[in-house]
Formats: sequence, C-alpha cells, structure tokens
Amino acid sequence: MSEHPETPVPPQEDGELDRRGFLARASAYAMGAGLVTSYGCFAAMAGRYLYPARPAPKAWMYVAEVAGFGVGSSLTYTAPDGATVAVARQKSAGNVDDFIALSSTCPHLGCKVHWEGQNQRFFCPCHNGVFDPSGAPVSGPPFEAGQSLPRFPLRIEGGLLYIEVGLEGLPTGEE
Ligand code: FES
Repeated sequence: MSEHPETPVPPQEDGELDRRGFLARASAYAMGAGLVTSYGCFAAMAGRYLYPARPAPKAWMYVAEVAGFGVGSSLTYTAPDGATVAVARQKSAGNVDDFIALSSTCPHLGCKVHWEGQNQRFFCPCHNGVFDPSGAPVSGPPFEAGQSLPRFPLRIEGGLLYIEVGLEGLPTGEE
C-alpha cells in the first residue's frame, strides 16, 4: 500500500487572513448598502405615486379697475409668490378678452419682458426676443428655442380685473 504524499499547504500569514476577512466584510457591506439604496429608491417612487404632491395654492388677486386701464397700456403685476406678470390691454370690447397676462420673465435668460402697444408685441431687450400678442415667440433666442411666455388666467368682476396667481410663500392657514 502506497501513500500519496500530502500536498503541502503553504503556510498562511496572519496578514493575508486579515486582508481576506476585510475584503469579505467590505463586499458584504457594499452589497447591503446597494440593496438598501435600491429599496429606498423604490419606496420613494412608490410614495410619490401613491401620494402625489398637492398643487401649489392659488388665488384670484385684484389687478386694476377696467375703466382706468387704457387700450394699448400695460402694467407689471407682482404675485405673492414673487412671479412678475405683464398685464396688457390689447382690445376695447370691454370684456376679459381685451386683456392678457403673461409672465414677464423671459424664458431665454430671465430678463424682463414688456408689452409694446405701438408694435403689438412683447419685447425682451436683452437679446431682442420678440413675442406676439399671445406670448408666442416670433424672433430672437426664444423663437429659436420655441419658448413661449406662460399665461395667467384673468377675470372681470364688478368692473375690476383679477388675476389667478400662486400663493407659495404666503401663510395660508393650511397645514
Ligand atoms: S433674456 Fe430675453 S431674449 Fe435673452
């Protein structure tokens, strides 16, 4: 009967054992962290789907007396949430369709847009951005980028013009 000589096992040093142990623990922690992150992202997405964010509160705010708002004139209205709006009277029919309210913040780089009644256009002086009376871009960088001026709803009540704007930033009494 012949015996095979045993394969010699190289002696392991303590340092190598420590390194292997460390790598095994580090891999386990990394895997655990990955799982926690993945489940966390999934839970956040599911939460947003199940409980969508409430829309920002809005209210109708007084702008001006209709009788004192001449055709071709305009004013800049500042909403409680800080949005600035160019309100212009473009017609003389005497109803709400005479008026338009557009964001006065240029969608290109944020300069102030104003109504030019004599030219029947909204104009941004920073880079000659031009918008038609409805706020659609006509020329300049906003036209190239297809950027219109956002519109705000208006209504007339008792001879007074009102605009619907955001109340973000104001105390509303709601929780
Ligand atoms: S900021 Fe208005 S055109 Fe550039």
